[in-house]
Amino acid sequence: MPVSPAIEFVSFADVAATGPAARGEEGASALVVFAGENLAFGAQTQRLIAPTAPAIERAARAAKFKGKAGSALDILAPHGLGWDRLIVLGVAPKKDDSDPVDFANLGGQAMGKLSGAARVAVLFEPQGTAGNGAADAGAAADFALGAALRAYKFDLYRTKKKDDSDKDTAVSLAIAVADPAAARAAHGPRAGPADGVALARNLVNEPPNVLYPEEFANRAKELEKLGVSVEILDKKAMTDLGMGALLGVGQGSIRESRVVIMRWNGAAGPDQPVAFVGKGVCFDTGGISIKPAASMEDMKGDMAGAACVVGLMHALAARKAKVNAIGAIGLVENMPDGAAQRPGDIVRSMSGQTIEIINTDAEGRLVLADVLWYVQDKYKPKFMVDLATLTGAIMVALGQEYAGLFSNNDELSERLKKAGEATGEKVWRMPLSAAYDKMIDSKFADMKNTGGRYGGSITAAQFLQRYVEKTPWAHLDIAGTGMGSPSSDINQSWGSGWGVRLLDRLVKDNYEG
Ligand code: BES
Ligand code: MN
Ligand code: ZN
Repeated sequence: MPVSPAIEFVSFADVAATGPAARGEEGASALVVFAGENLAFGAQTQRLIAPTAPAIERAARAAKFKGKAGSALDILAPHGLGWDRLIVLGVAPKKDDSDPVDFANLGGQAMGKLSGAARVAVLFEPQGTAGNGAADAGAAADFALGAALRAYKFDLYRTKKKDDSDKDTAVSLAIAVADPAAARAAHGPRAGPADGVALARNLVNEPPNVLYPEEFANRAKELEKLGVSVEILDKKAMTDLGMGALLGVGQGSIRESRVVIMRWNGAAGPDQPVAFVGKGVCFDTGGISIKPAASMEDMKGDMAGAACVVGLMHALAARKAKVNAIGAIGLVENMPDGAAQRPGDIVRSMSGQTIEIINTDAEGRLVLADVLWYVQDKYKPKFMVDLATLTGAIMVALGQEYAGLFSNNDELSERLKKAGEATGEKVWRMPLSAAYDKMIDSKFADMKNTGGRYGGSITAAQFLQRYVEKTPWAHLDIAGTGMGSPSSDINQSWGSGWGVRLLDRLVKDNYEG
């Protein structure tokens, strides 16, 4: 399982020039400091590195390091500084009008340079000034969060380590700040979301022979330890509810389908819940409309929406969010088989609407149709947000930077957009309209499950909208962002855990207290 660094907040006085190396302690050590424009150091940093300043300046000149944001100087610590390595992170804005430093990214950047270092101290003076209390506490906590997210590794199934940098190094990170107590207080509410992201990443990275619907449900059940109530619907329960759309997808698999309902009641009263719904296709072969072999292994990640919902519920419960929240996931395996669903089949969804199956590979919308309906009908939520690795078409439209956002509600869309900007998990709104809706009318049933070649993500969203009544609803197509997206300062994992921080932030900024 991933090794998360042991992070503690200390005062500047606790970091002595006689670092671990000078004390002869075992394991490689590193000191991380920040530099602004033209190698400007903060007062505390200056105090500590003063005796070795000329050597550092010389190294900086040689490396043409001037303190620009995004750049770093990584050197053998000069003689006299009791650390093995000195890492100077640049924080000077590139241009006067450029964005302020993102401290989570900065923490990730730092962690990325620390492989092999067992003991690390960070002098947290990122502006080149002495820290000034509460305002810096949040930044330090963000830095710690970014470091933890960057440190994530999934090597459960490796029996041999490639090289030293691949080995689990138990990094202990002491972050020196002006007010350690304030930093600790700011860090507390970030720990739950960080663990939630790691949990979501684990679920996405797990292989499909291990993580099939029943096992996925077992993993979700573990949230009970945090006070989440978890209900699992088996095939019999779903048959009785009339979930013919979801069950049709799973009928070709020897692994039974499941729906899991997670409930977190953190609000003071019986407040209407907010609801999150996830696509959990544990493996998507395409079914009878089978996919080509190339990259089919990636379809183990077709449950990234469900993984996000589980990670989010973990985050909300762990930080005791003052909100009532429902997380609901539809778990199936889409396989070709004698018992599998055929193109041409007509199924009846829980809503009563019938669906003609044109392509068995357009299965996510079938799963979501029944889960969305169930949640709306049973819990009457304030809003529903669903997440799904729904269409390849969303990657054609948006690449892997933004998730597609489709919604019947401007306020919810705006809030998601803001939460996206704050967390870096960005969403881009796409259209919905009657003209697209008629592309999924069917000759034989109420609708068909594909709308043709054009606007594939939009017709998929139109399909979902037919299962949403008056409830404010947003659909996030995360096919491009949930897995295999380019690695970043804070994510090097194939399964990104995308959406956990976005939705945690959505709740925190708009629906608590
Ligand atoms: N799970 C796929 C979408 C997907 C593709 C996610 C690649 C991530 C990477 C989904 O079930 C699917 O197969 N969609 C089809 C829909 C089509 C048959 C209408 C697609 O996008 O091709
Ligand atoms: Mn599919
Ligand atoms: Zn799929």
